[in-house]
Amino acid sequence: MPVEFTGKTALVTGSGTAGGLGHAIAEILVRGGATVVVTGRDPERGVQVAEGLGARFIAADLADPDSVRALAAEAGTVDILVNNAALMTGATQDLREFDDVFAVNVRAPFVLTTALAPKMAANGGGSVVNVSSTAAGIGMPGMGVYGASKAALESLTRAWAAEYAHGNVRVNAVAPGPMHTAKAVAMIGPDLGGYGGTVPLDRSADPAEVAEAVAFAASARASYMTGAVLPVDGGRAAV
Ligand SMILES: NC(=O)c1ccc[n+]([C@@H]2O[C@H](COP(=O)([O-])OP(=O)(O)OC[C@H]3O[C@@H](n4cnc5c(N)ncnc54)[C@H](OP(=O)(O)O)[C@@H]3O)[C@@H](O)[C@H]2O)c1
Repeated sequence: MPVEFTGKTALVTGSGTAGGLGHAIAEILVRGGATVVVTGRDPERGVQVAEGLGARFIAADLADPDSVRALAAEAGTVDILVNNAALMTGATQDLREFDDVFAVNVRAPFVLTTALAPKMAANGGGSVVNVSSTAAGIGMPGMGVYGASKAALESLTRAWAAEYAHGNVRVNAVAPGPMHTAKAVAMIGPDLGGYGGTVPLDRSADPAEVAEAVAFAASARASYMTGAVLPVDGGRAAV
């Protein structure tokens, strides 16, 4: 039975890239009946994705706090916020990249969540889902800054779960392992550099498989789940 989102509104960051996880999440929410806002930096690409889904597109640069605040204001009151956008970089020593990664992966979810979660609470409740990564919990060469940003996001997930619970706002994270999104394939190659073979299930995930877990966490079916970090990683966290 499909997850039910009739009458719900949702904002999914990083959803303007065809073949990305955000696109797959937006698709599953729309299929469930939600009214979805797709957002990304590129209006041409984003509008095309949004139109394909029957969603609305708002352009925003999550590296710029003013742009993030404007996005929150334009999105208005939503029932579901998915902080999915991220800068995935291998650099660990470049200060500029360090700041960029933390701006997009940590500061933008902070600005969006602190703007939108109180409105959800005032509206009777809601759900925030943060997209983390296996890299938050294990040491991966060249992924130190990215992993640290995702660990920060997981920590914020727990703090926000405690802070917003009284307003019936649940906050959870989903931590994917290797996933053959269009971007990951373009960056590392079709087999993700053999990364899929490092997990017990011995393959990378289709983004739709991870989107299912995000949709569950966002839905009323997860009504007693908050502050959780759900690994959707082919078993990587288990070994
Ligand atoms: N692929 C994997 O193997 C994997 C594994 C673990 C976790 N994850 C996580 O899964 C999520 C989705 O990743 P993905 O593989 O689907 O990659 P993706 O297609 O590149 O998605 C990332 C999205 O972030 C958006 N973004 C980046 N910088 C932005 C900025 N400054 N302002 C606005 N949007 C920005 C991009 O949007 P625009 O380019 O349209 O602006 C893009 O749509 C990320 O949180 C990532 O960390 C991925």
